[in-house]
Amino acid sequence: MKALVIGASGQVGSHLVQTLIAQNCDVRATYHNHQIPDAAPLDITKVMETNALITSSEPDVIYLPGAFPNVDYCETHPAETYEINVRGVKNVVDAANQTNARLVYFSSEYIFDGISGPYTETDIACPISEYGRQKLFAEHYISLFSKNYLIIRTTVVFGWEWQGKNFIIRLINSLKDKRSIRVPADQISSPTYVNNLAQIVVELSLSDFLQNEVINVTGPDCLSRYDLAVAAAQAFGLDASLITPVSTAELNQPAKRPLQAGLKIDKLIASSNIPPTSHHDGLLLMAKQHPIT
Ligand SMILES: NC(=O)c1ccc[n+]([C@@H]2O[C@H](COP(=O)([O-])OP(=O)(O)OC[C@H]3O[C@@H](n4cnc5c(N)ncnc54)[C@H](OP(=O)(O)O)[C@@H]3O)[C@@H](O)[C@H]2O)c1
Repeated sequence: MKALVIGASGQVGSHLVQTLIAQNCDVRATYHNHQIPDAAPLDITKVMETNALITSSEPDVIYLPGAFPNVDYCETHPAETYEINVRGVKNVVDAANQTNARLVYFSSEYIFDGISGPYTETDIACPISEYGRQKLFAEHYISLFSKNYLIIRTTVVFGWEWQGKNFIIRLINSLKDKRSIRVPADQISSPTYVNNLAQIVVELSLSDFLQNEVINVTGPDCLSRYDLAVAAAQAFGLDASLITPVSTAELNQPAKRPLQAGLKIDKLIASSNIPPTSHHDGLLLMAKQHPIT
C-alpha cells in the first residue's frame, strides 16, 4: 500500500507516518515550514506543486492532517488561513481525483457551536469561529467533489510530538518549571491520544468498511480542560495546585470556543477493532514513555 502523508511534520502526521511504516506501507511524507528527514517540501496552497507531488507519488491513500490549526490566528488572519485550510484542501481534492487515491481528511469538533455536545456525525454543524467555518467549508468541498474520501472528526489531540505544541506538553512544561497556569473549566471535550488516533485512522482507511463518510475518532471520555490538566499533573507526579480553573471568557481569546462540545463515538465503536484510549490511559502511557525526573 502506498501512502502519502501531507503534513507529516505535525503532531497527527508524524504519528500517522510511524503507524504506516510499522504496517509495512510504502510512505511518502511532506512538511511545510518545519523540515523533517526523508520528507518532501509541499505547500498545498500551490496548485501546480500539489498536483505534481500527488500525481508523481501515485498513492493509494492520501492522509491530509496538513492545515493551519491555530484557532486564534485563524480568527485574526482569516484570508491568509483560508488559503491553507480551504483552498489548500480544494487543491488536494482536485489532484487526488486525477488519481484513484482515497483522501483521508482531518476535521474538528469546532464545526459545532458547543451548546449541546457531545455531537454525533449527523448533528447539524454551526461554527462560531473562523477556524470552525474553514473546517466546515473544507468538509463540504470534500463531500461534494471528492471521489473517494473519509472525513475524520477529532478533538483535543495530545501525546508526545517533536514540535511540543499541544496543550498537555505545554502544561507539563509549565508545571515542571513551577509556573502557574490558568485553564478553562467550562470547555468540555473528548481528549484524544494521538497514538491511538493514528492507529484507528490507519485501520479505517485501509478497509473498505467506510466509504465517503464522516466518522468521529476521539477518546471515550468527555471532561473539562481543567479536569484533563489535573489528570495530567497527577499522571506525571507534578503539582496540580499550580493549575487555576478559570472561565473561557476570562481568557479573552480572539476566537470563541465551543463550550459544551465533545464527540460521540458509537459509530467508531461499531467500525473499528481498536479500543479508543481513555485520557487517563493516554496520560499514563505518555508518562511511562518520558517520565519527569
Ligand atoms: N490537534 C488537535 O487537537 C486537533 C483537533 C481537531 C482537529 N485537528 C485537525 O487535525 C489536523 C492535524 O492537526 P495537528 O495537531 O497535527 O496540527 P499541526 O501539528 O499544527 O500540523 C499541521 C501540519 O500541517 C502542515 N502545514 C501547514 N501549512 C501547510 C501548507 N500550506 N501546506 C502543506 N502543509 C502545511 C505543517 O507543516 P510544518 O509544521 O512543516 O509547517 C504540519 O505538518 C489538522 O487538520 C487539524 O485541524 C487537530
